[in-house]
Amino acid sequence: MSENEENLIFNPSQQVIDGAIVKEYDQLYKYSIENREAFWAEQAEMLGWYKKWDKVLDSSNPPFYKWFVGAKTNIIHNAIDRHQTTANRNKLAFLWEGEDGLVRTFSYHALNREVSQFASVLKSMGVVKGDIVTIYMPQIPELVFAMLACAKIGAAHSVVYGGFSSEALLERITDAKSRVVITADGGFRRGKATQLKDIVNKALEMCSVVEVVITVRRTGEDVYMENDRDYWYHDLKALPIASTKCETEVMNSEDMLFLLYTSGSTGKPKGLVHTHGGYSVYTSTTHRMVFDIKPEDRFWCAADPGWITGHSYIVYGPLINGSTIFLYEGAPNHPYPDRWWKMIDKYGITILYTSPTAIRGLMRYGESWVNRHDISGLRLLGSVGEPISPEAWKWYHRVVGKGKAPIMDTWWQTETGGFMITPIPITPLKPGSATKPFFGNELGVVDDEGNDVKTGEQGNLVIKAPWPGMTCCINEDKERYYDTYWKRFEKQGWYSAGDAARIDKDGYYWIIGRTDDVIKVSGYRLGTAEVESALATHHLVAEAAVIAVPHELKGNAIHAFVVLRHGTEQSRVLEAELKEHVGKVMGPIAKPEAVVFVDLLPKTRSGKIMRRVLKARALGLDEGDLSTLEE
Ligand code: PRX
Repeated sequence: MSENEENLIFNPSQQVIDGAIVKEYDQLYKYSIENREAFWAEQAEMLGWYKKWDKVLDSSNPPFYKWFVGAKTNIIHNAIDRHQTTANRNKLAFLWEGEDGLVRTFSYHALNREVSQFASVLKSMGVVKGDIVTIYMPQIPELVFAMLACAKIGAAHSVVYGGFSSEALLERITDAKSRVVITADGGFRRGKATQLKDIVNKALEMCSVVEVVITVRRTGEDVYMENDRDYWYHDLKALPIASTKCETEVMNSEDMLFLLYTSGSTGKPKGLVHTHGGYSVYTSTTHRMVFDIKPEDRFWCAADPGWITGHSYIVYGPLINGSTIFLYEGAPNHPYPDRWWKMIDKYGITILYTSPTAIRGLMRYGESWVNRHDISGLRLLGSVGEPISPEAWKWYHRVVGKGKAPIMDTWWQTETGGFMITPIPITPLKPGSATKPFFGNELGVVDDEGNDVKTGEQGNLVIKAPWPGMTCCINEDKERYYDTYWKRFEKQGWYSAGDAARIDKDGYYWIIGRTDDVIKVSGYRLGTAEVESALATHHLVAEAAVIAVPHELKGNAIHAFVVLRHGTEQSRVLEAELKEHVGKVMGPIAKPEAVVFVDLLPKTRSGKIMRRVLKARALGLDEGDLSTLEE
């Protein structure tokens, strides 16, 4: 980022400042750092608890921090139950539009009935507190109901993104040991029905842990249903067992709410665990303060519920705050590139939270598509998932925000549960910077020894103190949790984020990107090792290495370097076949943009692939120190 860009500041209007819930940053930030536990206790007081905590934070065994110890709660108590006795009962909780134009709406009262029925069905299928249920669904209301139903009865959900392949699904089902899987026949995407149930069927051919599959009908396409394993949700819902009354299970603050798999630097995806208590407090506080939530808002987080952004800011944070949420099933440009703007106008959306990839994609079509609709009701915008370029930021601000809606560029991760570095509406904004830490959070940018780097210099982004939204562990693998996040700066006791960043002279954070073996493609998180293992399962591949290369639309694209088995001929056909193969093994998002055949991969003497060298070569940059190179 040039000096010029660092000095470009967008100040909030007086109207934004006058209306903001949080009117001042510096003093509240100072208070929240000096009185961290008191600050979080004050936020927690805004929620309902069956029993309050004995201790806000137990830090006796770092990094295994515990929040709101001794408290009894259930996130559903705050997200649904509490609203049944207030004016929210008849407020719109949930608006949904299918790609085919179907509209479904639910008040908080109706949401309670739907979730209770789903919960009763799960109970009747033998799901009990502590079970992990895998959910593999399109973006339809039942996905949200299924998640909430699991939480209600004390079972954890593990939502697997609907774009993943049967192999990826199988791996996650097996790791979570899910007895029950919830899916749908499919969903609509670009006018076509996806075949989700077929993918589940295929995964289950190779799996012995699953006993029950509940399928929601959405597309009406024919699907194979196996006797004694497969049940249609609408059949179960019609039975007397599907009662609209179902008790919410009393949970400990530290009990598991969900498991969410994410990519790391080794081949196996990590199942990160989030809990009922701390996560409730963190998602609702960040959502309320950063998006300045008012009762009349209509909040659209245009992520997929299958990722952490959807968990925290489509489902849990907004529902706890009694907001009206919007969910859309399909592609942003179907049938025309104005689909989003049309819906924002139609439903009176006031806050839009999306990713730089989506913004770049829509920008491509030009502003006339936006200008066909009256979207002047948008008062706040948000961005997440990857760095937003100043160019995309300015377009989003000018064309979508009409030059008046501030952009909340929120930096966070699956692991953090909620926003860590983010503006609030009154923050003066610099396009491309996520600005400053959220309240209660201490972060830093340090060199490999843990010393603060100089102002403006690049270093490792670290989090220096615990926060209530933090993941508590990797499912059944404490050691891996420690090694992945805490070992690198164990002396200091800091969390290593895996991102490079800079802090400018005004204390603003600029995120540069991942420094580990994680690649962000269109904001989706993929591990190099996962893609490499997928390539290696092809019978003609001897070895493979993948790197991220900057891409105009996707942010990053995957380039794969492949050594073929002896005697195999290189060809365009094989190149295309390998791309397809990765798509099949992992899911379409992981398909490499380019496959390059090489005779050897650059390796250190100890056999580690030097991806840095491949990257430098691909980008025509200096290859740096090659003294450790084997050949
Ligand atoms: O590299 C950072 C990038 O996304 C990573 C986390 O990915 P994931 O766990 O999939 O969560 C994404 C949604 C929270 C981070 O390590 N990232 C996320 N938000 C931003 C970002 N990079 C720059 N700016 C952001 N606002």
